Formats: sequence, C-alpha cells, structure tokens
Amino acid sequence: MMADPAPVPKILVLASGSGTNLQALIEASRERNFPGEIIAVGCNKPGAFALERATQANLATFVIDHTQYGSREEFDAALMAEILRHNPDLVVLAGFMRILTSDFVRAFRGKMLNIHPSLLPAYTGLNTHQRVLEAGDQTHGVSIHFVTEELDGGPVIAQAEIGVAGDDTPESLAEKVQEQEHLLYPIVVRWFCEGRIQLGAEGVLFDGALLEQPMRLAAG
Ligand code: GRF
Repeated sequence: MMADPAPVPKILVLASGSGTNLQALIEASRERNFPGEIIAVGCNKPGAFALERATQANLATFVIDHTQYGSREEFDAALMAEILRHNPDLVVLAGFMRILTSDFVRAFRGKMLNIHPSLLPAYTGLNTHQRVLEAGDQTHGVSIHFVTEELDGGPVIAQAEIGVAGDDTPESLAEKVQEQEHLLYPIVVRWFCEGRIQLGAEGVLFDGALLEQPMRLAAG
C-alpha cells in the first residue's frame, strides 16, 4: 500500500472584489506538485465575483459582511473566528479591501500575505495608479509583503516592475500591473508553502537569510 502523501500547507484566501488574483492562485494550485492547497475563500462583500470564482472551483466560501457589524473590532472578531475554524497555515489577502485591527494582524503574524499595486514603500493606500501618473513616475509595479500592523508597511518579499508610458491611464496601468500580479502571487505563495520565506525579527528571511532587497520578477 502507498503511504499517504504528506499534508501540504492549507491556504485561506480573503478577497473583496473581482478575484482575478484568486483565480491565478486557483489555477496555480491545480498544477501538479503545487505545495499548498486552497481550503476556503472568505469575503466581506456578499456579491463579490471572487465568491463566484471560488464556487466554480468547488472551494468552500464564507461571507462576513462588514456592513452588519457595529465596529471594526466586532467585524474582525467574526472574521477571525471563521478563519480559525478552517485552521489555515497561510492567509492570503487578494484584494481584500478592509483595514484589519492590530489584534487581528498580530494573530496571523508571519502567516498573512498581502498584494499591493505599487512599488512599496512608495504609494501605500488607495488610487496608486492615478498617483503614479500625477507624479510623472516612469516606473510602477506591484509588491507582495508580509502583513504587519503598519498599513501596506510590512516587509516586502517580492516586486514586479512595469514601465509607465506617456499615454498610460489609471486603467491601462491597472491592467499592466495586474498582469504582473497574476504571475507574482502564485510564485510567492509557492515559496511560502515550500517553507522558503519567513517573517523574521529584522525582515523577510529567504532560505534562512535576511533578504536585503525584495526579490524582483525579471521583466518578460
Ligand atoms: C489588485 O490590484 C491588488 O493589488 C489590490 O486589489 C486588486 C485586487 O484585484 N490590492 P482582484 O480582485 O484580484 O481582481
């Protein structure tokens, strides 16, 4: 009799919107030998298309509708209870548009990743594409980082850069950045599941060594 395969890390994805990053992760996780398994998808918006994508992929879903809670603390407590029920090894924020309380973030320290559409530390917060255009920047991109208590401020694991053209608009930049997001997030999640990246006291550890600079996806 064959021995059961070793269990792989359990991934829980949180999303709020269309879920294209979720889709990229679902597809990656279906590849042979992917070292992790998506076990559930949670959402704070009942009608989000991300839920539809998860259902299509036969994944468990849950909704914690933030409009039903009187405070951020109550919302986070409900969200935390639901996440813990699934007992994930990794929580992946994939376009999850809620600011999380410090208690929540601390509970998942080193086990929660976020994707942000800028080359952090530049442009934390919203409307990054518009702000990049207004500043006249020639490059832009995406960052994936460990989530810490500082909004969009956790240690950056990896980035991918794009060029900004003279005729770019916020929409065209969003499209170019998302193309990179869909390549980069599965790579980083894979590293996490393989145990290659960790959040250390001083920053990101990659294969046990402190990462001096975020990993960069080579331009294709
Ligand atoms: C992405 O651009 C991500 O960087 C930002 O929210 C967007 C989510 O898009 N945090 P989607 O829902 O994965 O399509």
